Amino acid sequence: MPYVDIESSKEKSGILIKPLNIDDRLDFIVAAHHETFRLTFLSDIEDEFLENELTRTRADSVSDNNSVVGAFIENEIVGHAVLETRSRKVDEQFGWIHFYYVAPQFRRHGVGLKLVSYSTEYFKALGMKEYCLRTGEHNESTIAFYLSAGFYRVPEGDETGLNGVKELMMSFDI
Ligand SMILES: CC(C)(COP(=O)(O)OP(=O)(O)OC[C@H]1O[C@@H](n2cnc3c(N)ncnc32)[C@H](O)[C@@H]1OP(=O)(O)O)[C@@H](O)C(=O)NCCC(=O)NCCS
Repeated sequence: MPYVDIESSKEKSGILIKPLNIDDRLDFIVAAHHETFRLTFLSDIEDEFLENELTRTRADSVSDNNSVVGAFIENEIVGHAVLETRSRKVDEQFGWIHFYYVAPQFRRHGVGLKLVSYSTEYFKALGMKEYCLRTGEHNESTIAFYLSAGFYRVPEGDETGLNGVKELMMSFDI
């Protein structure tokens, strides 16, 4: 399990990134999935899809407590991230961002950048050189965020997802 210095990520911003049991903040997590799904796939998330997402996140938490985190300001949850490890070949692992989310009223205050910094520390501690994600082609503000945070486009990794939406692959070099 990688060591991540949670206290040092607090800094002066008052934003604390720490491991999260999603069942303690389930309303927030469910709302996050509803909004993110709609922004990505332009339709409402189905119950079965949502349940699968929650099951996957719970499993990620069990395999590594530090891979499922919340962003907190004065004990209020304001953001969420789910980090995973993937392999290209047996000996080549890289990081994968399964989920990034910041509550609407807390956007543009640097919470998203804190989640990215946390991810960099997390994957670096695992010895990885890169982490990636996919985001929906219509989610323009999120694409702007990723480019601003230091991600770059990897068009060969694009995929067609639900509802025929093109999911754009982006990568971050550690
Ligand atoms: C994407 C998201 C996580 C960004 O979180 P955030 O806390 O608002 O991001 P930050 O405040 O750290 O933004 C950092 C920089 O990114 C860029 N950025 C962020 N949001 C932007 C927007 N809506 N439009 C253009 N640029 C944006 C800006 O350069 C910003 O710096 P600035 O505010 O000083 O101009 C948040 O908007 C979100 O949760 N969106 C909905 C869910 C979602 O789509 N998740 C990703 C699924 S793949």
